[in-house]
Amino acid sequence: MLAIIGGSGLTQLANLNIERREVVRTPYGEPSGVLLFGRVCSMNVVFLARHGYGHTIPPHMVNYRANMWALHKAGATGVLSVASVGGIRADLGPGVLVVPHQIIDYTHSRRGTFFDGVDGPVVHVDFTEPYDSVLRRRILAAAVEAGEAVVDGAVYAATQGPRLETAAEIERLARDGADVVGMTGMPEAALARELDLPYAALNVVVNWAAGRADSEHEIRFEKIEQTAQAAMGRVRHVIDRICG
Ligand code: HPA
Repeated sequence: MLAIIGGSGLTQLANLNIERREVVRTPYGEPSGVLLFGRVCSMNVVFLARHGYGHTIPPHMVNYRANMWALHKAGATGVLSVASVGGIRADLGPGVLVVPHQIIDYTHSRRGTFFDGVDGPVVHVDFTEPYDSVLRRRILAAAVEAGEAVVDGAVYAATQGPRLETAAEIERLARDGADVVGMTGMPEAALARELDLPYAALNVVVNWAAGRADSEHEIRFEKIEQTAQAAMGRVRHVIDRICG
């Protein structure tokens, strides 16, 4: 069963025929909302809205541990994360869909591990390749099937938020080798790895990152909303073909 975590702009999956809802309690507190079980194409999926169904939970307040633990407990065997990002690389402008292949983590003060040494051994998971290559290929193949252009590969920078970055911060991320910037990719990906859950992301570029291209002066929320709405339709198309 594939878990789909929907980000901003994807609090519902129109193509999910909901069969069941489940409130899952976890040792780590409350997940962002109820888990919705249903089918996409012929496959069982479980859906969770990362920011809550009313979009009330900001990136730094998301209970990533509870979310990943709940999905794992519910029987998920893989996690597809949908998240919006700002574009840093010149070919990754608003409206582009991209499947990242690497992560740089700039977040802080988030609860980012199940192995905090309280009642278990200290474990250091391998995270050389943060995304699962098989799941990445499945997303890319689904995009081809759906006839939607999706870029293969980007370095995802995870920032703390909830504010957007300064132009100088984006310049630094670019020098570090980052191609897109978002606020939710970590610790989500690392927690999935700790649970041995294959994890991959489909990122939607909704704005130029601060100081890039036409965002030189300011990033306008209304414009982001419009871009996100249109692009999420394309994300749904891709997800519709995820069964192969
Ligand atoms: N920065 C960080 N996170 C984001 C952005 C951005 O410009 N756009 C969407 N999520």
